[in-house]
Amino acid sequence: MKKIFLGVNVDHVATVRNSRMENYPDPVRFAVLAEEHGADGITVHLREDQRHITENDVYRLSQILKTRMNLEMSVSKRIVDIACTIKPFSCCIVPERREEITTECGLDVYNRKKEVGRSVDILKGNGIMVSLFVEPEKHQVDSAVEVGADIVEFHTGRYSNLKSMKERQEELKKIELSAIYAKSKGLTVNAGHGLTYLNVFDIAKFPEIYELNIGHSIISRSLFVGVKCAIREMKSILHEARRRRVDSRVRC
Ligand code: PXP
Repeated sequence: MKKIFLGVNVDHVATVRNSRMENYPDPVRFAVLAEEHGADGITVHLREDQRHITENDVYRLSQILKTRMNLEMSVSKRIVDIACTIKPFSCCIVPERREEITTECGLDVYNRKKEVGRSVDILKGNGIMVSLFVEPEKHQVDSAVEVGADIVEFHTGRYSNLKSMKERQEELKKIELSAIYAKSKGLTVNAGHGLTYLNVFDIAKFPEIYELNIGHSIISRSLFVGVKCAIREMKSILHEARRRRVDSRVRC
């Protein structure tokens, strides 16, 4: 059975901290606890306006993490420079709009090849793996390959928001086919955004997916059950999804 990895996004711990301009709760402390209880990596989004995670958080994380840091970021020169100084394990390039509450869609690599490709080259030149957060679409996967990305992270926000069962199944199929295609092109395939304890199972089943990046639902759950249980519950859903997938293939 192929393991599926869990990257925990700790941005929302910083959101709570910053809402009172206090120094607690500390996203770095949350990240350390998450690692202790089974997170395979920690993701943070260093936005240009540093509205949740700050540059200082990223420096502190880089010194303390035992697993991998995945730094989400735009292609802004300032942020690319910070990434090259910190050298996280991977950087995930996302589109960024100042007015948005959270990342709203995938990066349009197809129409921004030159700009994205320039950042990919700089980051890779500094020994950093590069991931591109894209919609599950063939032309975006092809463009990711063209600009030299190592990883694609499929945006699961649409899947998470759809209410109609039929549309949801269609979106799932799209994610599955895109994952198969991206893997066949030599990319590592991740996915994330809007995933919860209730909707993650069907995504985690796809064996082509290497890692899921999940933040809001884990942090919300940890308020009620603690970090240890919140991480372990999510890990056990991921594990169960993979186990059942293997069982069903064996039965066929
Ligand atoms: N992946 C990417 C690229 C994201 O931008 C985010 C949100 O910061 C996530 C995953 C995690 O999304 P959520 O907090 O909804 O789990």
